[in-house]
Order: sequence, then C-alpha cells, then structure tokens
Amino acid sequence: MTQDELFKVLVAHCKEYGFIFPSSEIYDGLAAVYDYGQMGVELKNNIKQYWWNAMTRLNENIVGIDSCIFMHPRIWEASGHVSAFNDPLIDNKDSKKRYRADVLIEDYLGKIEEKIAKEVAKGRKRFGDSFDEAQFRATNPNVLREQAKYDEVHNRYVKAEQASDFAEYRQIIIDCGIVCPISGTCNWTDVRQFNLMFSTSIGSTSEGANTIYLRPETAQGIFVNYLNVQKTGRMKIPFGIAQIGKAFRNEIVARQFIFRMREFEQMEMQFFIKPGTELEWFKNWKEKRMAWHVNLGMGAENYRFHDHEKLAHYANAATDIEFQFPFGFKELEGIHSRTDFDLGNHQKFSGKKIQYFDPETGESFVPYVIETSIGVDRTVLAVLSHAYKEEKLENGETRVVLSIPPALAPVKAAVLPLVKKDGLPEVAQQIMDDLKYDFNCQYDEKDSIGKRYRRQDAIGTPYCITVDHDTLEDHCVTVRDRDTMTQERIPIAELRSLIDKKVNLNNLLRNL
Ligand code: GAP
Repeated sequence: MTQDELFKVLVAHCKEYGFIFPSSEIYDGLAAVYDYGQMGVELKNNIKQYWWNAMTRLNENIVGIDSCIFMHPRIWEASGHVSAFNDPLIDNKDSKKRYRADVLIEDYLGKIEEKIAKEVAKGRKRFGDSFDEAQFRATNPNVLREQAKYDEVHNRYVKAEQASDFAEYRQIIIDCGIVCPISGTCNWTDVRQFNLMFSTSIGSTSEGANTIYLRPETAQGIFVNYLNVQKTGRMKIPFGIAQIGKAFRNEIVARQFIFRMREFEQMEMQFFIKPGTELEWFKNWKEKRMAWHVNLGMGAENYRFHDHEKLAHYANAATDIEFQFPFGFKELEGIHSRTDFDLGNHQKFSGKKIQYFDPETGESFVPYVIETSIGVDRTVLAVLSHAYKEEKLENGETRVVLSIPPALAPVKAAVLPLVKKDGLPEVAQQIMDDLKYDFNCQYDEKDSIGKRYRRQDAIGTPYCITVDHDTLEDHCVTVRDRDTMTQERIPIAELRSLIDKKVNLNNLLRNL
C-alpha cells in the first residue's frame, strides 16, 4: 500500500471506529472542520493530559490558565496579527481554485525529497550491509541530479521568503511547471496576501469597536494575563504559563484531514525569562520538547528539527519539531524565541506597565519569552498514522490493529464473557465495576470472541480480558495482549496492577 492509499484507509478507519467524523456530515460537511467521536475524544483527552501534566506537574515553575476565545480587538493589533498574519495565495485561472503559493512550492520540494529517499532505499536494498549512505548520496547520478534540482529551487524559495517577494513565488511555480491538480494547467494569477483571522461582532468594547476576532492562537491569552498570574502566583522569573484551547484560522488549503483545520486546538506554554538568556532557554526547551515526543515510543527517527530560515514577525530564533506523517515530514510543534515583542507591544498598546521587578538586582525589565506551541489535532494524527497497521496472521487472516501508546489508548481494557449465559456476564460485569474507577473499560458480549478481539484491536485497546467457565472455579481470567496477541491466565485480583503497569500515564511521565 502506498502512503497515499494508507492515508485514505486511515481516514476511513477513523470514521468507522468513532475517532473522527467530518463536521456537519448530514449537511454534506464543512471543509477543514472535523468532530471527534467517542474514541477520538478519549485519545485527545489523554494527549492533553500527558502534555498538561508534563508541563504543570513536572515543572514547579509552570502554572496553567484557561483564557477566553474572545478578546479585546486591540490585542490583535498589538500582537501584529491584524497586519501580518497572512498567507500568500494564488488562484488557478482555469479551475478557479485557490492555493497557498508557499505550500505548492513546499509540496514540490517534498516530492523531490521523496524521489531521493526512494533511490537511497533502492541502494540500501541492493548493497545490503555494505551500504554507505553518505557515499551513495555523493556519487549516485540520479540522487545528484535530484539534489541539484532541490537545492536550486530551495535557495530561490528561501530568498523569496526572506524578502517577502511574492512575484518570485509565482515565478518559481511557473519555472518548476507546478500545475493545478484540478485543471492540470499552469495558468496562475499573481500571489496576494490574505489575512487568516475570522472576525465576528460583539455588542461593544471600551473603544466602541464591535468587530472582534476568534483567536488565531492561544498565546495572547497568556500574555495579557502575565501580570495577573505573576502577581497572584508570586512567580519568580524564570517561570511559565501553560494553556490548552481552541484556535481558529481561515485556512485556504483545506487538505490532509485534521492536519490543517479551520478550528483546532493548541497546547501552548510561554516561558518568561531574563533578556539575554533566551538562546540558552531556547536550546533547553528544544531538548525538553523533543524528549516529550520521543518518550511516546513512536520512534526517534520519525521526528526531526527544522530550524527556520525566515523568522515570524515576533521571533529571534525558531524551530519546528516535524513528524513523519504519511504525506512526509511536517510540522507538529513550533518552538519560538519571541523576545519581548508581545509583552512590549501590549505595554505600548494598553498603556499599562508590564514589567518584572528582579528583587536580586533591583532592576525592572520586560521579560523575554520562549514559546512551545503544539497542535493537539496534529498529535492525534501523528499517533493514529503511526499506530495503524494491517497485519497478516499465521492462520492467513489479516487484522487491523492500532498500536497506540498504551497510556494514550481510548479504552484500556475490554471485558468479554466467553458466552452470554452460565453466570459469565455477571462475573464480567463485576470485573467492569471494579476496574472502571481506574481505567476506561468496555464490556462486550456480542459475536464470537475472535470478532470481539478484532474490534478491540481496531480501536487500540491494550488488553482483552476473557471470562470463561473456568473463571467460576479458579477466579482467573485470560488476558490477551494487543501487540503480541499472547494470552496469559491471571487471577482477577491481579488485573488492576497488570493493566496499571502498562497504561498508567505516570509511568510515561516518570521517564521524562
Ligand atoms: N503561538 C504560536 C503559533 O500559533 P504556529 O506554528 O502557527 O505557532 C503552532 O502553530 C502549532 O499549532 C503548529 O505546530 C500546529 O501543530 C498547530 N496548528 C497550526 N495551525 C493549524 C491548523 N490550521 N490546523 C491544525 N493545527 C494547526
């Protein structure tokens, strides 16, 4: 199965098993908006808990808040979003479809990278253990040709990006022969800037303005509460404020499922520090955040840093943590050194003094900020796309299994009476009643045991517990492991500690 096919199958699987539904589906859906179903919301909540606890419990100097989506419109002027939160858009004159010019170029570069990766994989297969990747890349004519093409386009793109030269974006698209996927033509308009914020109206504000914006990031809710938290929490620099919440962007390129949505959720943390220490803290948070990801056990090789060549209007250093999605390495989290841009501007625009008094030096200053910002939905997609597997079994059948990290799995254990009679359902219900306070469990008595195992594999349940006739005598149950499919007979009294060892989020947190 190609990665493209795999992705389509995954999207269908997410719907079939209650993870993610297209929004407003009975009205034919709403582009780039998705709802989470009964399984999806559990997975999402577990991810949020892993992040929240890693931030606020493992760091004594980080606290959380929950600020509102609606904020005073001047906030978005101060933050630069009104003037600078734009995407470069280009239209195809034949299909009348609109695209992000930067995404068209990045996808083109991504395809060249894929071609190179395929050549390298072929080489590895051909030469086996003696394969020297660096030498292969330096000498193979196909790789050299593709790499030269990549470097040429990439250099032009970076220069155009740094100079905000949108005419050059268009020229790159034309020179590379990038066509509209719908019309197949290269008949492009000029590139224009398009603001991503959604606006709506409100009764009134202190300045009489009634246009307000749905927040495009949660970060500003943290900045405007900096003084409140610092004072009421008696926080001493360095300290952080964390927040999880919805953000809204009028994304034009509505593709790749929940990767790019118009309504999505962010987990952001702003870390307030002394000016001059930002590059040290930036490095520190890069390492900490990468460790958080790798700790999930989805393979360190599936993550990489992508340091920004063009910095956002607020940053003096920035990197992305990228994950290998089925459509290539793409941004999962952004880490930015935001200087004093936000607090400084809020001080200017609000007229309120936003400073930190350092009791040790007697100085007052506007703190600098390191931000870590990760998308909840992109993490859900990373977990699901890595977890989805179709396996051939020894008996010739195939099974679909989601090997979700156990601590994140929506359902931790399924309790299955072998038959619907002879007192087995009653024992199974007792086990459910006992376990339900500690774990999200499912009771299932329908269909053959094999079918029930398949249903649980498909939603990623780490353990299936089967109650059979022997259970009535020996008070033991058969526990089947999702990944190895091995079965073990254990006393009912030991169930809780067995499950807990594998699924307890604290065990993940302890490894950080
Ligand atoms: N406060 C900084 C900020 O918002 P960003 O790189 O624009 O930075 C941070 O966004 C993260 O939010 C991204 O790494 C991504 O995971 C997530 N994100 C951004 N736009 C998104 C969208 N349209 N749909 C889903 N997730 C998105």
